[in-house]
Amino acid sequence: MSDLPPLAGGERGPEELRPLLDTVLDALKNGAAHRGGPLPSGGPDTVSARLRDATGELLPVHGTGAETALRTLVAAVAEGAADPADPLCAAHLHCPPLAVATAADLAASALNPSMDSWDQAPAATALETEVTRLLAHEAYPDASAADALVTTGGTEANQLAVLLAREATRTAAHPVQLLVGENAHHSLTRAAWLLGLPEPVVLPAPTGTLDPAALDEALTDLPGPHLVAATAGTTDAGLIDPLPETAAVCEAHGARLHIDAAYGAGLLFSPRHRAALAGLDRAHSITLDLHKLGWQPVAAGLLAVRDRTDLAPLGHRAEYLNADDDTEAGLPDLLGRSLRTTRRPDVLKTAVTLKALGRTGLADLVDRVVALAHHLARLVDLHPGLDLYDTPALTTVLFRPTGADDDTVAAIRRSLLTDGRAVLGRARMDGRLWLKATLLNPHTDPGDLAALLKLVEGHTPR
Ligand SMILES: Cc1ncc(COP(=O)(O)O)c(C=O)c1O
Repeated sequence: MSDLPPLAGGERGPEELRPLLDTVLDALKNGAAHRGGPLPSGGPDTVSARLRDATGELLPVHGTGAETALRTLVAAVAEGAADPADPLCAAHLHCPPLAVATAADLAASALNPSMDSWDQAPAATALETEVTRLLAHEAYPDASAADALVTTGGTEANQLAVLLAREATRTAAHPVQLLVGENAHHSLTRAAWLLGLPEPVVLPAPTGTLDPAALDEALTDLPGPHLVAATAGTTDAGLIDPLPETAAVCEAHGARLHIDAAYGAGLLFSPRHRAALAGLDRAHSITLDLHKLGWQPVAAGLLAVRDRTDLAPLGHRAEYLNADDDTEAGLPDLLGRSLRTTRRPDVLKTAVTLKALGRTGLADLVDRVVALAHHLARLVDLHPGLDLYDTPALTTVLFRPTGADDDTVAAIRRSLLTDGRAVLGRARMDGRLWLKATLLNPHTDPGDLAALLKLVEGHTPR
């Protein structure tokens, strides 16, 4: 018997992993039981001190062995987690991953394919090709040249979209001008900064969505070329910009259109709610992100493009990964499908999820969380001490205690966090601060939502 630590792969890998997984699963269970709620109580100093006590020395001279290290560290991180599987953990676009997707992700780690060359990922390459085509077709049902790239999330997808627009307009007299609504995700303006583009034009969005008339005016006034980034599912309120009207304005001005549907693209899976995304396929590129309304463990982002020739600028050669003669001999060339080099086979968990749940299973999850948001909105609306911002468009509900000032709203959120009772987000809309519940957990039930409002009531100063 060798003293070397065992490997995860190969024929022996699964037998080596099996007892370790038992340890991990027990530690996850114990950690969650000790936490006993959506997040640890006590705030940052207490949580850090508890973690340090539990873990002890992290790089000892002589290691503790796998069992002890897994048991102590996994339990400590689980006990100190903000757990999106808890119905009262509803602040962010931070979804509870499905067990089936998480199990598939374990296989991705054990096999460890790297997607930057075919000889590191033969079957995973074929699977990524299939899944990206399939999802590109969901986003662009009528575009035979549609394609999609795998990304680490919405941020990377938005960055790539801005990069592709810069490259597509490279021969113009001016660099591409990005225009976004003030409701857009911060990653878009940051991408313009990263890519050395002119300061983006940020259009006011007083109703929470992009105003096509204001966009029309800005496109008329500003020299092109233009890239307009609209949002299908805003981070703050889950609102969907008027996509058909925005697309029409862009088409009239010859502007490129990117739609950040990191949140809203999940609706594509629901025959009941898909119509809310009408106009999505008029964009040159679309951000999708299945670690939001797709129940995947991070990372599960995608950038879909209507015309795969837009991807040409990402083409790149490195002798050791995609030598010309290998490509000519038929080895797939994957380097140009990302700016990353080593890359996890993130599509494996997504493919397993799509197959396991099927269209009806996915639609059911989407429909459930949308229905939950409407239920919470109704509860707020009927509550004499709470104000509702608006009927939810996706699964975000904004509310605040009637008559409370912004400091009180902020204090309620922090006090729930410190007590470890509930994780709510915050959003500034119509000049006021609101509590934000982003409902992504299909296991949440109406009783949980009532309990959430009771907690808010209990933390509201009288
Ligand atoms: C609308 C929108 N776009 C992009 C992103 C960024 O996604 P990620 O955090 O996966 O990079 C977010 C994150 O919440 C988002 O809400």
